[in-house]
Amino acid sequence: MGDTLRIGAIGYGLRGGLSGLAHKPDEGVELVGLADPNESAQAAFLEKFPNASVTVDYRDFIAQKLDAVFVTSPDWLHEEQASTLLSAGISVYLEKPMAITTEGCDRILWASKTGGGKLFVGHNMRHFGVVQKMKEWIDEGKIGEVKAAWCRHFVSYGGDAYFRDWHADRSKSTGLLLQKGAHDIDVIHWLCSGYSKTVTAFGDLAVYGNNPDRQTPEEYIKVAFRGTWPPASLDKLNPVVDVEDVNMMLMKLDNGVLASYQQCHFTPDAWRNYTVIGTEGRIENIGDAPGNSVVRLWNQNHQKYAEHGDLEFEVPKATGGHGGADEHIVAEFIEFLRTGTTSVTSPIAARQSVAAGVAATYSLRNGGQPVAVPGLDPELAKHFA
Ligand SMILES: NC(=O)c1ccc[n+]([C@@H]2O[C@H](COP(=O)([O-])OP(=O)(O)OC[C@H]3O[C@@H](n4cnc5c(N)ncnc54)[C@H](O)[C@@H]3O)[C@@H](O)[C@H]2O)c1
Repeated sequence: MGDTLRIGAIGYGLRGGLSGLAHKPDEGVELVGLADPNESAQAAFLEKFPNASVTVDYRDFIAQKLDAVFVTSPDWLHEEQASTLLSAGISVYLEKPMAITTEGCDRILWASKTGGGKLFVGHNMRHFGVVQKMKEWIDEGKIGEVKAAWCRHFVSYGGDAYFRDWHADRSKSTGLLLQKGAHDIDVIHWLCSGYSKTVTAFGDLAVYGNNPDRQTPEEYIKVAFRGTWPPASLDKLNPVVDVEDVNMMLMKLDNGVLASYQQCHFTPDAWRNYTVIGTEGRIENIGDAPGNSVVRLWNQNHQKYAEHGDLEFEVPKATGGHGGADEHIVAEFIEFLRTGTTSVTSPIAARQSVAAGVAATYSLRNGGQPVAVPGLDPELAKHFA
């Protein structure tokens, strides 16, 4: 690795801007190339980075001996692209979910172990202000020993963002419980210091499935976050819609903690509400955006509703993508490339969130039966520890 880190990006769609955050030539990081078959994505990239090159085949980055590549392509491509690069010794920033199957995640981990490329998975939610405050209070012992965690996830933009493109096709995403929930399952695992051992779930395609207004296979309509209302009026859905739009999952973690995650893609509002309950208290966030959210702690006995709790933290305003979390996670990645260490994210945790999401998706499509989450090969666990 030379003094200047030369990096590339695969996929310049909604998430394409992420690699640009790393481009800081004055600080020794240069974004030098994009691989994306889409001509308008290539043009948008070149407009922003005129000195960079574009290609349709990400394997060109191997010949160019790049130091690292941001994989921000659709989920079903992660396994093949990340494994190939890692096997060639190229480090990877891999967007969540790591892959759409547990076996796919394990293949990526093996490729990193044997090929030498360093793997970093972009679970930027660990940098969210509300999540960081909750983790801090839990680690300080403010709620005693964690016993239960619940997350309610309201996704008002679900129709626009996930039912007009590849997300709606289970062959490309497995399902939204994994696709979107990988973030939250990971946060629950992190806050509770454990990984799901057994899961069970129910889900349904309750609103979007009956909508006959589909794109023709030649059309590609992506109008993310437009704000269609009511949800049933969504137009131009993906030709294939076979993922659930409402999901409810229960988890038993390996340390005995019980957790639940509930996700709905036809709510009027958009935010995540977490609560974690310990032997000596409870924490909860109301709102999740910096400048418009609060984390509350109750650790005294109240015989009735106590709105403000015993301690309150207002999450300060922040600028940048996902409330500044994107800038933080890219900085964490660059530090990881330079020092080999990470402070917040972990490839093992990323694998475990996929494994839990895949197992829960199997459960909900098979009558809600409890499903054991496959464990990680001890050799991989040791390597990535
Ligand atoms: N961490 C987060 O907060 C967050 C938010 C949104 C999306 N994501 C993840 O980021 C990834 C990308 O999502 P998106 O919404 O930007 O998708 P998108 O569909 O908007 O963009 C994907 C891009 O990849 C390109 N592409 C398709 N096939 C390709 C190939 N074979 N080689 C190279 N490029 C190819 C497409 O042309 C497109 O430009 C997904 O894995 C998604 O789950 C993460």
